Amino acid sequence: MPLRGSVVSSLYSRRVADQQSTGPSYRAVSLFSGCGGFCEGVRLAGFDTLAAVELDRFAAQTYRRNFPEVELFEGDVAHFLRQEDPAWAPHASRFGGVAPGKVDLLFGGPPCQGYSQIGQRVLDDPRNALYAEYVRVLTTLRPRVFLMENVPNMLLMAKGMFKRQVLEAFAEAGYSNVAVRVVVASDYGVPQLRRRAIFFGVRDEDDLGLDAGDFLDKTLEQQRQPSVTVRDGIGDLPERTAEHYEPRRYPDSSRASDVLDELRLDRDGRWYTAEDKKAAAGGHKLHNHHTKQILQRRKNLIALLAPGAKGDSLPKDVWNGLRPEKWRRLHPDKPAYTILAQMHRDLSEWVHPDFQRWITVREAARLQSFHDGFVFESSEWQMLKQIGNAVPPLLGRALGAAAAAALDRLADQGAAAV
Ligand SMILES: C[S@@+](CC[C@H](N)C(=O)[O-])C[C@H]1O[C@@H](n2cnc3c(N)ncnc32)[C@H](O)[C@@H]1O
Repeated sequence: MPLRGSVVSSLYSRRVADQQSTGPSYRAVSLFSGCGGFCEGVRLAGFDTLAAVELDRFAAQTYRRNFPEVELFEGDVAHFLRQEDPAWAPHASRFGGVAPGKVDLLFGGPPCQGYSQIGQRVLDDPRNALYAEYVRVLTTLRPRVFLMENVPNMLLMAKGMFKRQVLEAFAEAGYSNVAVRVVVASDYGVPQLRRRAIFFGVRDEDDLGLDAGDFLDKTLEQQRQPSVTVRDGIGDLPERTAEHYEPRRYPDSSRASDVLDELRLDRDGRWYTAEDKKAAAGGHKLHNHHTKQILQRRKNLIALLAPGAKGDSLPKDVWNGLRPEKWRRLHPDKPAYTILAQMHRDLSEWVHPDFQRWITVREAARLQSFHDGFVFESSEWQMLKQIGNAVPPLLGRALGAAAAAALDRLADQGAAAV
C-alpha cells in the first residue's frame, strides 16, 4: 500500500484495478527518480511506489506535483536507508515501510558519467559511485526483481568491461539471473526512436524457471505497439504558444490517433481515462505549451529546412557548416529522433515539423509520451532537462508490466510449491 493516500493514487489505482487481476498491488522503490517518467510508467503497470529518491530540487518539484502519494527523499542517494548516517536520521521515520521483505521491485537509472577509460575495479571508482549506490540499495532491500535503465553506450564503455563488472556486482548481491537488453521506445507506443539499455534481474532464491533474458523478450513482445509518428503525437497542438508559463485553452481536435487517446485530456485511452488525466491537470487546460524565444533571423533560417532535414541541407551562405545537427526539423510522418536533456541549452535540433519555431515543453513531453495531465514545474530550462532525462512513461509501462509478470510467475510458483 502507498504510505500516503491521495486523489491521484486512488484515481490511478481504480483504473489499474480495472486492467489487472485480483490481489494487492506490488510495491516498488524508485532511485534517481528525476521528474518521474519511469515512475509514471511503473505506476501505470499497477505498482505502488513506496519511496522515490532525487537529488535535484527542480526535478523534485515536478515529482511532488505529479506523485503526491509517493514519499520522496530529496537528497543524495548515498544517504538513503543508511541507518548509521546522521543525514538519514531525520528522514528515517517517513520511510519505515521501506524494508527488506516489503519491496517487490527496485527500479531506476543511475546517471552514467560516460568515461570511456576506466580502471580495473569499476564500482570502486568514485565516478561510478552511483552504480555502487544502486547495488547497495538492492542489497539492503532484496526485492524479488529489479530494473535498471541506462544509455546504450554504457554497455560498450571500456570495451564492455563496465557492463561485465556491473553484472558481477549484481551476482555478488544475489542476483545472477540478469538480462541485458537494448529496447526502442517506439516499439511501445512512444512517438520517438529512443534506445535504452535495460538490466532486469531476479533474486537468486526465487526461481523464475527461465533465463531472465528469455522471459524479458517474451513479455516485452506481448507489450509491443504499432509505431506512432510525430504527427500522431503532437499534430493537435496549436502553433500559438503561451507567452509566459500560463496554461492555455485546451485545443479541440478530431484527429484520430491511439497515442492521442492516451495523452489528450478529453479522451479515454487503453491505459488512461480522460477523468484521471483531467484530475491530474487540475482542469481542462493545456499546460507547458511554451518554448524558447526565437529571433526573426533564425525563423528565416529554419523556414528553409524541409521535414526531416538538417543544417547540412541549407544553402552554404546560410549555414556555417560547423555542426549538421545544429538545425534539424522533425519529420511529421516518422517517430521523433531522441529527445535529449541537452535541448535545455539549445533547442535548434528540435524544430517543429510544420511551424517556424522550436517545439514547446508540452510537445517535448508528448514525444516522450507524458500525458497532458502530467504538469512540469520550475523553469522552462529545467523542464526541458527533466523531460530529456526521463524514461518515456509508455516504455516504463512496458518494463513495469514485464516486472509484474515476473512477480506473478514467482507467486504462482511459490503457491504451487506449498
Ligand atoms: C537520467 S535522470 C533519471 C530520470 C528518471 N528515470 C525519469 O524517468 O524521469 C537521473 C537523475 O538522477 C539524479 N541524481 C544524480 N545524482 C544523484 C544522487 N547522488 N542522488 C540522487 N539522485 C541523483 C539526477 O538529478 C537526475 O534527475
